Amino acid sequence: MAANAISGALRQLFGIRAPAGKYTNLTYTATAIGREEYKNQLGGGRETWDARGRFQLDLLRARGLLPTSTLLDIGCGPLRAGVQFIRYLDAGNYFGFDYNVSFITAAERAVTEHGLSTKQPSLVALSDFEMSGIRRTFDYAIAFSVLNHCSPSQRRLFFSNIGQCLAPGAKLFISHARWLKEADLERAGLVISERFGVHDLDLSEYGWQPPEQRLVCPLYELERRSG
Ligand SMILES: C[S@@+](CC[C@H](N)C(=O)[O-])C[C@H]1O[C@@H](n2cnc3c(N)ncnc32)[C@H](O)[C@@H]1O
Repeated sequence: MAANAISGALRQLFGIRAPAGKYTNLTYTATAIGREEYKNQLGGGRETWDARGRFQLDLLRARGLLPTSTLLDIGCGPLRAGVQFIRYLDAGNYFGFDYNVSFITAAERAVTEHGLSTKQPSLVALSDFEMSGIRRTFDYAIAFSVLNHCSPSQRRLFFSNIGQCLAPGAKLFISHARWLKEADLERAGLVISERFGVHDLDLSEYGWQPPEQRLVCPLYELERRSG
């Protein structure tokens, strides 16, 4: 604790920023990406990779996502769910970003390997939730197992900036959200439209064992106020 406080003070003194989170400095060579080693970094690993990705698509479809909808995948990683979203959505309607450059490289490779290039997904490496360059608004957005890996200051940046990417009435899904407080939402013009607990979602069907299911929830559906 004392050591942390000292290193925090030194970082501040010399203007050195702390890593934004668990995945900031994780890098993979092209060979490692080819072997899909990144799959071991996400909860559930290779074994549940497709099922946990499919869960996100099934959830959003159940909440109204259509092929014509536009989707922002926040912290998309190497497209565990992204591949499924891109396949389902009309061309040009998927935008994924992540602060980990290796994950974006892996994501680009996954698009090619799954024969999804014609869907023209946008994949961007982006830090500190600096979303002003996106210059689009979306009907749907999802941050699945992302903000739980972020510091409180990264979350503040997220809620300060996400509003600019959401169309009026857009739905934003946030999982692993035990930390979420209604005060966080005001900054982004968001209200809670649904709160999913463990008993509302069939997580065991998608590869989550009971102890881990409790981490996924609460999962919130938030709505961007119109006007
Ligand atoms: C557990 S993975 C989940 C990836 C993806 N959402 C999924 O469900 O497969 C967490 C992801 O969030 C990304 N991430 C964490 N903090 C981030 C931040 N501040 N900005 C952008 N991406 C972030 C990580 O790089 C990683 O890809």
